[in-house]
Amino acid sequence: MRKSTLMEKVTRRTISSSSFFLCFFIFSSSILFLAGKSAAKVSFDGDNDDNVTALFIFGDSFLDAGNNNYINTTTLDQANFPPYGQTFFGLPTGRFSDGRLISDFIAEYAKLPLIPPFLEPGDSQKKLCGVNFASAGAGALVETFQGSVISLRTQLGHYKKVERLWRIKFGKEESKKRISRAVYLISIGSNDYSSPFLTNQSLSFSMSQHVDIVIGNLTTFIHAWDGSSLRRIRYPDNFKISGSGSLFGESIILLSLSGSGVCGYPGFKEGKMGCCGSGPLRGINTCGNQMGKSYELCENVTDYLFFDASHLTEKAHRQIAELIWSGPPNVTGPYNLQALFELN
Ligand SMILES: *[C@@H]1O[C@H](CO)[C@@H](O)[C@H](O)[C@H]1NC(C)=O
Ligand SMILES: *[C@@H]1O[C@H](CO)[C@@H](O)[C@H](O)[C@H]1NC(C)=O
Ligand SMILES: *[C@@H]1O[C@H](CO)[C@@H](O)[C@H](O)[C@H]1NC(C)=O
Ligand SMILES: *[C@@H]1O[C@H](CO)[C@@H](O)[C@H](O)[C@H]1NC(C)=O
Ligand SMILES: *[C@@H]1O[C@H](CO)[C@@H](O)[C@H](O)[C@H]1NC(C)=O
Ligand SMILES: *[C@@H]1O[C@H](CO)[C@@H](O)[C@H](O)[C@H]1NC(C)=O
Repeated sequence: MRKSTLMEKVTRRTISSSSFFLCFFIFSSSILFLAGKSAAKVSFDGDNDDNVTALFIFGDSFLDAGNNNYINTTTLDQANFPPYGQTFFGLPTGRFSDGRLISDFIAEYAKLPLIPPFLEPGDSQKKLCGVNFASAGAGALVETFQGSVISLRTQLGHYKKVERLWRIKFGKEESKKRISRAVYLISIGSNDYSSPFLTNQSLSFSMSQHVDIVIGNLTTFIHAWDGSSLRRIRYPDNFKISGSGSLFGESIILLSLSGSGVCGYPGFKEGKMGCCGSGPLRGINTCGNQMGKSYELCENVTDYLFFDASHLTEKAHRQIAELIWSGPPNVTGPYNLQALFELN
């Protein structure tokens, strides 16, 4: 196996899944929560209740609920085969986890149904409480894993389509009201830093210029909404990873775990080894045998922080979601997400 291929298997997910943890470093990656000025009461029926607070989800494999099932890409960017999804759904959905993602829990806490992937065909009624646009491998830059993912720019284009559909469905005023009340969940950034290395894309900029460009594009993306009507939640340092070492080495997964504040909240028996994969600490991304390679699967996934070489278990997603939803102000401030949903 070529070294680069191995590295890609190991690190691509690694980097993308580290995005949440790394997001507290200034430039690594970002998870943002944005909401319209007047988030209001929440209910199940997107069609009849004009007070529904919709949830829109953008980003990478951390939040992709199955969009990549519908694009022409490689299994590196897909999780639509067993044992993904086994814990909660009983079948693979495209989520890079054994079960639900942060966004699924947030939807549940907000009394919304599961938010469907934009590309999932069928009932458009299902897309009236929100839509998930995220795509595994995606970054803020169009160039990031270009051709095998849905870039943030294209995700924004998909969002604009939903806006148009809502205008037709609800009328101009009502759709505007719903959009302005919606909550936006975004996980993006780390693939932008790994992609140039993993795809041999030549960087005509210095690393710090590259970082500026990523931040610039993310800013542009955020400004696609009327900035003044958005509120933003910041997360302080307690999530920060204190691991060190080569960002692109195999050990990133382990390092990013060992020092993580998240690990200690309330803790996992196994914070280093993945549940599904092969090689040292199951750090090689062969989960599901899609690469024609064998893999190991742990016996009890609830002991694990990581499900595959770089993506979290449902249990970890739930814990993070709980913190985001109802964490205290010194952890999740100035608003936790519950407050954001209830803002008037
Ligand atoms: C929506 O909210 C408005 C203002 O808060 C309220 O008057 C109205 O009854 C609510 N509608 C529904 C269906 O709950
Ligand atoms: C999918 O992508 C591959 C590689 O780029 C290409 O050869 C193939 O024709 C594509 N398939 C479809 C259905 O577009
Ligand atoms: C990247 O470039 C190196 C050196 O030219 C080469 O050995 C490797 O196969 C390339 N990797 C990819 C993914 O194209
Ligand atoms: C966004 O990224 C592109 C490259 O994908 C770059 O040319 C452009 O300058 C960036 N925009 C900003 C505002 O940084
Ligand atoms: C799996 O692990 C959890 C947490 O350590 C434990 O509570 C549970 O009993 C275990 N289940 C089995 C079947 O061993
Ligand atoms: C937040 O406050 C609680 C209670 O005052 C405290 O126990 C906890 O350690 C604080 N967390 C952080 C991250 O400061």
